[in-house]
Amino acid sequence: MSEVLRHLRQQQAASGARPRLIQRYAAFLPVTSATPPITLGEGNTPLVHARSLGRAIGIPELHLKVEGMNPTGSFKDRGMVVAVARAFEDGAEAVICASTGNTAASATAYAAAAGLECLVVLPAGRIARGKLMQALFGGARVVAVEGGFDDALRIVRELTGEGGASEATTPDGAAIWAGTARKGAGKHVTLVNSVNPHRIAGQQTAAFEVIDDLGGAPDYVALPVGNAGNITAYWKGFNAYRDAGLVETRPVMLGFQAAGAAPLVVGHPIAEPETVATAIRIGDPASWHGAVRARDESGGRIEAVSDDEILEAWRDLARLEGIFCEPASAAPLAGLRRLVAEGAIDPGGTIVAVLTGHGLKDPELAARHAPEILTAEPTAEGVRQALGW
Ligand code: F0G
Repeated sequence: MSEVLRHLRQQQAASGARPRLIQRYAAFLPVTSATPPITLGEGNTPLVHARSLGRAIGIPELHLKVEGMNPTGSFKDRGMVVAVARAFEDGAEAVICASTGNTAASATAYAAAAGLECLVVLPAGRIARGKLMQALFGGARVVAVEGGFDDALRIVRELTGEGGASEATTPDGAAIWAGTARKGAGKHVTLVNSVNPHRIAGQQTAAFEVIDDLGGAPDYVALPVGNAGNITAYWKGFNAYRDAGLVETRPVMLGFQAAGAAPLVVGHPIAEPETVATAIRIGDPASWHGAVRARDESGGRIEAVSDDEILEAWRDLARLEGIFCEPASAAPLAGLRRLVAEGAIDPGGTIVAVLTGHGLKDPELAARHAPEILTAEPTAEGVRQALGW
């Protein structure tokens, strides 16, 4: 063995192999030794100290949880690995979901990894091309329906007999979960939207990682709210670590919806249907009471942010920090900027903003807001001129 190789091996042994998400947090997850060890390398995402953007917004201790670094480019993979592993363990032959794109991409990938069929119901014409291709190219059978995400979710719940699940959810969400249903062609199909508590359980791991990386709970956590599964999961995770005695405090939870899709904001009309943050354009979040609990128990807020506020934060993030997220993921940065300006939060606190998905999922909106490309003769002199050197 060469010296270099020996050195590398020693380093790897010292730092430990990167543990799989399910194994790392098994004590907090609904898994057993019988749960199949499916993994695509999910979790373990970077927590980046955003010094420049923090300075621009007025938050010196702004940290970004970069969830676009997950295998399919969004936070959904954390919950999906658990939901699909459990579906497989429970004998499912297929998984099904409604989606604005990211859930579909993630379900497709993990179903493929587990050897299960994947069925997706989407709102027609509203899915970013990258996400749609992740599902189609990955072998999911995709059905587009007229209407919005809410219609698609209603349909898949009906198909799997999970109609009233979220309304009847107990605090940990598990009690009324039947998990699977035999329908249609007699297939054993499991619903893997976040009304499936295994999704929420897996998504808690992001809260665990935040605490593990910071060495304690942050003062605030800000994140986008769509179907409200993620804010529910973070709050559950922070509580689980506190209850286990691993940490004493819990953060204040700040959720941000895209204006036009904001029923949690009391008195806010569900107005203009268009928003740049199509991934979170949801009229009737299935886990809304989980979101309201996170808000009320933590003394937090759930607010709407406008398209213009999102676009500004989205661009600043890319230019000041080098992180290209999808537009919906910039909603919490837009919201934080406003709350600091209003004096509504303590800007001296440690604040984590969750960037839920990768910018390359939907470059079309970016193209509309990007500067013009320069052109030049194919010579050094030509390029010099184009650059104005
Ligand atoms: N950010 C992104 C990029 C999303 O795709 C979603 C939800 C959210 C935030 C909101 O998370 O629903 O747990 O409150 N996307 C779902 C989907 C609806 O189908 O991919 P949530």
